[in-house]
Amino acid sequence: MKKQRALVLVHSTLVPPESLVGLSEKEIDEWRTEYDVITHLKAAGHEVLPLGMSDSLSELRRAIIDWKPDIVFNLLEEFDGIVTYDQHVVAFLELMRQPYTGCNPRGMLLSRDKVLSKQLLSYHRIPTPQFRVFPRGRKPRIPKKLNYPLFVKSSTEDASLGIAHASVVADEKQLAERIAFIHEQTHSDALVEEYIEGRELYVGVIGNDRLKVLPVWEMRFGSLPESLPAIATRKVKWDRRYQAKYGITTAAAANLPEGTMARLEQLSKRIYRALHLTGYARMDFRLRPDGALYVLEANANPNISMAEDFSQSALTAGMRYRDVLNRILQLGTNYPAAWRGVES
Ligand SMILES: Nc1ncnc2c1ncn2[C@@H]1O[C@H](COP(=O)(O)OP(=O)(O)O)[C@@H](O)[C@H]1O
Ligand SMILES: [Mg+2]
Repeated sequence: MKKQRALVLVHSTLVPPESLVGLSEKEIDEWRTEYDVITHLKAAGHEVLPLGMSDSLSELRRAIIDWKPDIVFNLLEEFDGIVTYDQHVVAFLELMRQPYTGCNPRGMLLSRDKVLSKQLLSYHRIPTPQFRVFPRGRKPRIPKKLNYPLFVKSSTEDASLGIAHASVVADEKQLAERIAFIHEQTHSDALVEEYIEGRELYVGVIGNDRLKVLPVWEMRFGSLPESLPAIATRKVKWDRRYQAKYGITTAAAANLPEGTMARLEQLSKRIYRALHLTGYARMDFRLRPDGALYVLEANANPNISMAEDFSQSALTAGMRYRDVLNRILQLGTNYPAAWRGVES
């Protein structure tokens, strides 16, 4: 691929240092994705400028005007501490007629809002757990007849924020408590779903029009005690010591029931299109013991650090890390934003 001038947009606290010497794994984990992307883009011969961003668009505008990047590599996951605001930064890039990597603003808006995406998926008859929303700022009116266990989460947060074993609730009292917890801790509406017992599967997709579905990945809960629900809590996802203690790993999904792989592939493409995703994304699924599949959410711009599921799954499909990054750059360059072809 032609060498690109890539402005790598990261959160201001996550601008990685040049070298890892003397740093602990824990310190590196904070900005590992940013480090991996920047070092590998450089190694592939691209010209790279990292830009840290927190609560202002001025520096971004300045860098676009002065440095004239071919592309902005978007690694932002929030703006000014608000997780759903990264979509507005992407919208700003479009207004500036600046090509960028990853998902477009519409896809980000639809996929970040779990309630909105579930409504859209139901319209398309894509199986997602039954749900109710308990809006923040209103006293929850809990119906008497609900089928427990239920799962309580934030309607907009990601990275398992607010997700713990207590997210699985067995009665009205626990439900009310957890709804209040979500309202208070995440300042968002509480999404209450039927609890889907089963295996946890992830499917990566890359593309704008023509989609490539990556091999199905699975989170294995190791020796987590039977008494605890097998779910990806904050600790399960991010705490290395906890993962090592219980042997929690992710790997290519093996021994899936017949036909499941094909269904996952087909569903993932349909979800990607229904939510107007572009660039790259990862779908989270649960597979029940009776073979029923449910999508939990679609993640636009998922984690692409080298050792994470998305890149590892791509590697299994024969795409090296450098190929993944180049493909992402290429898709960003080719994305048919509305401004293209319209004279400014
Ligand atoms: N309805 C559900 N039934 C069973 N487990 C769930 C359900 N919803 C979420 N989970 C568990 O919680 C994890 C995080 O939920 P998810 O909706 O993917 O939010 P996040 O955006 O934080 O990743 C999932 O990976 C899964 O393990
Ligand atoms: Mg998830």
